[in-house]
Amino acid sequence: MLMSFNRLGVIVVVLLFASEAGALNNGLGRLPPMGYNTWNGVQDAVSEDIIRHRAVSMVKSGLRDLGYEYVIVDDGWAIRNATTRRLEPNASAFPSGMKALAQFVHAQGLKFGTYTDRGTKTCAGHPGSYGYERLDAQTFAEWEVDYLKEDNCNAPGGPLNKKTSLEQWSLMRDALNATGRPIFFSVCAGGDTHPFINDLTWYAEPPFGAALGNSWRISADVGAVLGLSWVTARNAMLANANLSRWAGPGGWNDPDMLLTSNPNAWYHITPEQSRTQFSVWALMAAPLIIGGPIANLSAWDFETYSNKEIIDIDQDPLAQQGSALVIDYPLGNHIVWGRHLADGGFAMAFVNCGLLDASITCDAGCWAKTPFATGTVLSVRDLWKHGPATNPTIRVPEPWSIRLGAHGSSQSFKLVANHSSFTPSLLV
Ligand code: GAL
Repeated sequence: MLMSFNRLGVIVVVLLFASEAGALNNGLGRLPPMGYNTWNGVQDAVSEDIIRHRAVSMVKSGLRDLGYEYVIVDDGWAIRNATTRRLEPNASAFPSGMKALAQFVHAQGLKFGTYTDRGTKTCAGHPGSYGYERLDAQTFAEWEVDYLKEDNCNAPGGPLNKKTSLEQWSLMRDALNATGRPIFFSVCAGGDTHPFINDLTWYAEPPFGAALGNSWRISADVGAVLGLSWVTARNAMLANANLSRWAGPGGWNDPDMLLTSNPNAWYHITPEQSRTQFSVWALMAAPLIIGGPIANLSAWDFETYSNKEIIDIDQDPLAQQGSALVIDYPLGNHIVWGRHLADGGFAMAFVNCGLLDASITCDAGCWAKTPFATGTVLSVRDLWKHGPATNPTIRVPEPWSIRLGAHGSSQSFKLVANHSSFTPSLLV
């Protein structure tokens, strides 16, 4: 009898360990991360001065207090010491070293993030972590890093090889777990992939997704030259249209960073498109990581990223990613997004990605995907006007049409059941 109890105990312990190994177990990312990343603004011309200035301006501008917490230095900082084999920052750009920089960022009440790659070199040709996962994870932990983005370039086996990509990212995941320091793990499957050809949505599903990282890219890079950036943002949005079941506390689908409308940033989109991106990223419970020069955001961009009503949608405690309620596959020009909220409300965004103005409609089939029963009268709040919508109430399932300009215009709303407008006739 005693023997069988012991055996049972051993089995339970083994099972517990088995479920721990092969899973990310850092307690982070209960809600989608928010912050700033250098890449879309300065590419690999990074320096500690840039990071210090960005950190200070995140505090002064009030963005930190709105929830933006990670300051992330992307590609371009690393060299590998030929003797110690450790990663070090390029000394001319980071003379104080990474630990001092992390501590400076922490002193601003922010968290410090950095970047590496699962291959032999990063996408911009700097040293990657392949073969050095344990050493690099220890180094990051010693530097007091809080967030690590690990990219997909120059990886033995290739960028789209499921077996080797899982093996290589798992090594870093386990090495980060082993440090004991909670480090948000951002799996960046985008590098070395083609924005118009490759499908990366399989990264959302086990054994990838939440088993591997706190966030995982589901599309190639958002951001391109020759004015093609909006096309890449739109592709990321379409890729994420039906991935909500894989996201939740601890792990998030990542459609990549936010593009500002600053024409001097390496990658940018129009002011209206950047507002659409921000709204839809919030409906998608996506990481809100601002790319672009945060130190001198235009008044427009600042108003975009400080829209508390949109941030609250992204950070809603129900933590349930939204989906496309209406979508004209295969084009994906006209989309209505919807997201359930913790207070019983529902967020909706109407988006026109087409080349022509269009009316986009939530019809009976669309209403059937919302939490509202037929006959419910809803109050409609416009999340950019910060007040009642032009159409301030609507009765389900009346068709609801929004007229939108072309190329990425949108309108976003929060709907709440208006109980005070219930009449006895509605209740029978
Ligand atoms: C890309 C990655 C970008 C950025 C860049 C750095 O592949 O998706 O977000 O990190 O590499 O070289």
